[in-house]
Amino acid sequence: MANVLLTRRIPSSVLSLLEAEHTVDLYTGEAAIPRDELIRRVAGKDALICVLTDRIDGEVLDAAPTLKIVANIAVGYDNLDVPAARQRRVIVTNTPDVLTEATAELTWALILGIARRVAEGDRLIRSGGWNRWGLDFMLGMELRGKQLGIIGRGRIGRAVAAKAPAFGMRAVFAKHDMSLDELLVTSDVVSIHAPSTPETRHLINKRNLARMKRSSILVNTARGALVDEEALAWALSEHLIAGAALDVYEREPGDQALFKDFQNVLLAPHLGSATRETRTAMADLAVRNTLAVLNGEEPLTPVR
Ligand code: GLV
Repeated sequence: MANVLLTRRIPSSVLSLLEAEHTVDLYTGEAAIPRDELIRRVAGKDALICVLTDRIDGEVLDAAPTLKIVANIAVGYDNLDVPAARQRRVIVTNTPDVLTEATAELTWALILGIARRVAEGDRLIRSGGWNRWGLDFMLGMELRGKQLGIIGRGRIGRAVAAKAPAFGMRAVFAKHDMSLDELLVTSDVVSIHAPSTPETRHLINKRNLARMKRSSILVNTARGALVDEEALAWALSEHLIAGAALDVYEREPGDQALFKDFQNVLLAPHLGSATRETRTAMADLAVRNTLAVLNGEEPLTPVR
């Protein structure tokens, strides 16, 4: 029996797979495990199953010299210091594939929601402000015939593109179909699906926002770090773009004060993979990675 630290509650059907073979130390708090508690509880563990709000770096790894695996319950792993893990011969795994469709669906929910001002209309009714119907009332942007520019041609970017024909949109990929510059200049919706790395940090900055059409919409369901939020707030206040729909932020969780006052910004609290089906599949994959490594087998989805 090995010792496993699990930093969030997971569905009981999945937890019982782990408990059948190993001793599980489960952090039961609703929010992220405090860092000092993480460092204290990881000591003596053979495996760590964590989520994207846990920063796993050299300090955490050094607190657990017996650790064999860090299994992130997320496809993105910018919360993990992968070279530090590699140096210490700790295997890192993530949860690709199982959340592709859920994230693509949320991306389309945001595209439709911002293009047709759904949340804005909801706010109007709830505030008691709906007092007219007019031919020119709360007009949005029709998707049919428009261009969807996708930054990032990985699993999620391709799944988002696959749904574009259903809405009559033409999907194009940066680098693959055209340069990023051309994509920004010609797209009606720009959607980000690239990983967060030092190279992609603030990819969407003042310069790139200024290139976008004034009628266009920016959508980000990848990671907050890809967008310079100060620059985005500036572009919105200067009306350089028509709106933005965001699921991810530079600082999470939080009240996103920079964007709260823009009616033309749709804000979601990092829900890309948040379906019952997908969250169960993600936890299941992280547990299966952990069981494999603790059994001396190859992990199913290693981060290389
Ligand atoms: C969610 O953001 C993930 O990376 O899985």
